[in-house]
Amino acid sequence: MSHHFLRFTDVHYSYPDGYEALRGVDFLITHGEKVALLGLNGAGKSTILLHSNGLLLPTSGEVNVGGIPVTKKTLSVVRQSVGMVFQNADDQLFMPTVEEDVAFGPLNMGLEGDEVERRVAMALDRVGASDLRKRSPLRLSGGQKKRVAIATVLSMEPSILVLDEPTAELDLEARRQVCGIVSAFQHTCVIATHDMDLARQLCDRAIVITDGRVTDDGPVGPVTAAFEQSV
Ligand SMILES: Nc1ncnc2c1ncn2[C@@H]1O[C@H](COP(=O)(O)OP(=O)(O)O)[C@@H](O)[C@H]1O
Ligand SMILES: [Mg+2]
Repeated sequence: MSHHFLRFTDVHYSYPDGYEALRGVDFLITHGEKVALLGLNGAGKSTILLHSNGLLLPTSGEVNVGGIPVTKKTLSVVRQSVGMVFQNADDQLFMPTVEEDVAFGPLNMGLEGDEVERRVAMALDRVGASDLRKRSPLRLSGGQKKRVAIATVLSMEPSILVLDEPTAELDLEARRQVCGIVSAFQHTCVIATHDMDLARQLCDRAIVITDGRVTDDGPVGPVTAAFEQSV
């Protein structure tokens, strides 16, 4: 499984208005690593995550997932390996029922009947949301929405799970549930977060982003401590 790596090589990205949000980002995340992405608001964390599955493509440099450069042509393959959970669950949930949202990815991958059902049941079970199956996503609590949003990604059985501030605005119980779900995920995981306790609890390694560049990268303990000192 060592081919499930995520590598950024000198990635630059300018938004359409010309703002250069990424200014030469380099890192290699290897299979099974759990990595926290730290940085102040506006540092470029979300922009990096959006590059990991091709929702944004670099202005220059390369993003590579398991040996495949992320380009327009490889998007469908890349999106099967990299599952992205957005900061706002409402951006991820758009079907009339929870089960349809969770089935959407597998159906889109061309899977059918029993296999889709197996994946929906598995993903809902992993996030403890089997009882929410027939509900409308719109009517769920914040914590329930977040768990279902994670299920919509787990149903694609990604080898790399990417989460943008997964515990922002969750109460303690929902936060604990999200922590449990992420720690049970056995493959590679990248988590952008302001929550240093979460980073230390779930991650082995932390990467600090400052003004669109990597400014620190190492074991989570020392890196979070230095980051807290610096802000
Ligand atoms: N759609 C956009 N158009 C122009 N600039 C943007 C856009 N989205 C984000 N930015 C800018 O890019 C920088 C990085 O943003 P972002 O990746 O969201 O940071 P973070 O997630 O670390 O808070 C910020 O300065 C932000 O204002
Ligand atoms: Mg962000």
